[in-house]
Amino acid sequence: MVIVKVGILGGSGLNKASLFSLLKEEWMETPFGKPSDALQHGTIAGVPCVLLARHGREHSLQPTVVNYRANLWALREAGCTHVLAATACGSLREHIEPGHFVTIDTFIDRTTKRKSSFHDGSPEGLPGIQHLAMNEPFCPHTRALLQQACQEHSVTCHPTGTMVCIEGARFSTVAESKMFRILGGDVINMTTVPEVVLARELGLCYAALAMATDYDCWRDSGEAVNVQKVLQVMKSNADTAIRVLKTTVALIAKEDWSQIVPQLQDSVTMNVMLSKT
Ligand code: ADE
Repeated sequence: MVIVKVGILGGSGLNKASLFSLLKEEWMETPFGKPSDALQHGTIAGVPCVLLARHGREHSLQPTVVNYRANLWALREAGCTHVLAATACGSLREHIEPGHFVTIDTFIDRTTKRKSSFHDGSPEGLPGIQHLAMNEPFCPHTRALLQQACQEHSVTCHPTGTMVCIEGARFSTVAESKMFRILGGDVINMTTVPEVVLARELGLCYAALAMATDYDCWRDSGEAVNVQKVLQVMKSNADTAIRVLKTTVALIAKEDWSQIVPQLQDSVTMNVMLSKT
């Protein structure tokens, strides 16, 4: 039997007070530096959980400088088996309306400046070279539970979707936004990569609850994305996101992960090339 512990990576609007009563606050140091903030420990439906504010509690870290490696390492060190990542995103499709959720199943990586592997040849890095399969980056079992939780709360959730992850911090041009639609993107954000990749390298069951906040800027009519719009939609849907996340944690605890978690961890170690010397 695998004992589950759930890490929750949150953006703004998702704070500890709304999720659980705080048991412990832990400032950690990892071989890759400091996480974005202290780990906030608590329980949801009796399940141990750890909340980490991806951009820091004051939202002072822009997507490029978030230490994704330290964040994921810290959650793994804290004993997490699962990671639920809450993320705001722009919609590249008319039918994905602001306020809707998407349990994304794949991504297009448009980032350029981030450390995206623990196996980087540095003294603190993990040994060997990791060639991780990315045919299924997000845990399908955890995604299904997020979908079930959305259903229980009568919230619209698109079960699949391709996330385009851009470097930021600027939003896309109209030309880029239209190009991403042609490429097959459904939603767009600035944090999914390398977060999901690093979670996979550590054998964590990672799934994202992506909340559409805007239509980016590909539409001929309507307002282009801006921070005020993103914050306003996030704020008005924060309670819903919190309810969905709490229900998902309870659902995770009801599942038997004794095959899934070791399988995920094996698939990681099998894809490391170690040097012969
Ligand atoms: N986060 C929320 N909306 C976004 C958009 N349109 N582009 C990139 N990141 C976003």
